[in-house]
Amino acid sequence: MLLHRFALEEVNTKLKILNEEFQFIHDYNPMEHLKSRVKSLESIGAKLEKKGLDITPENAVKHVHDIAGIRISCSFLSDIFKIREMLENQDDISILRVKDYVTNPKPNGYRSLHLLCEIPVFLTNRSEKIVVEIQIRTVAMDFWASLEHKIYYKYQQEAPRHLIEELKEAAEIVMNLDDKMKKLNEEIDEYKKHIEDNEN
Ligand code: GTP
Ligand code: MG
Repeated sequence: MLLHRFALEEVNTKLKILNEEFQFIHDYNPMEHLKSRVKSLESIGAKLEKKGLDITPENAVKHVHDIAGIRISCSFLSDIFKIREMLENQDDISILRVKDYVTNPKPNGYRSLHLLCEIPVFLTNRSEKIVVEIQIRTVAMDFWASLEHKIYYKYQQEAPRHLIEELKEAAEIVMNLDDKMKKLNEEIDEYKKHIEDNEN
């Protein structure tokens, strides 16, 4: 658990630096919000139990890949892929697995980009590679996912049909909103460029 906390701190620092550098160069923050957490022992135990595995530290490290988790929210769809690219370019991070639910949403409407990363943590007498799950999504996707999560837990996987349907409709609206914001943002960027070109 301590190692996972160290790994989170490393990735957090890295993300903050990347965000600040990006702000410095492009005058704009691709990451709006960062949230990280180490999974509680209780949740780790519950996950292993669900998988039918014995609750041991070895099984936890091997089978629970989100002990260390970071969630990045951003304004625009394009930011998601910018952040992914930045992470891919980090020498000390290896990306073990990518789940692109942005391009291929889950049947319930869930969208996010999940990167399973590995980062070395340097200790006094050794270094150890620790897995960190990074979820990247727009604020609109995050809004949707929070509500879905709440409903899922409230109804213990037996939500009434109409809620599931309407949640799917809401996911559709989120998708349209993200698309609209992307187009508006592109237009604003074009305009800014045009003004700058005329000034020079
Ligand atoms: P777990 O779901 O974590 O057991 O592993 P997995 O291999 O299915 O990983 P996946 O990348 O699909 O999901 C990992 C995490 O993404 C979850 O722990 C959630 O935080 C989030 N997530 C995945 N699917 C959903 C979803 O349908 N709704 C919401 N709200 N969150 C989801
Ligand atoms: Mg899952």
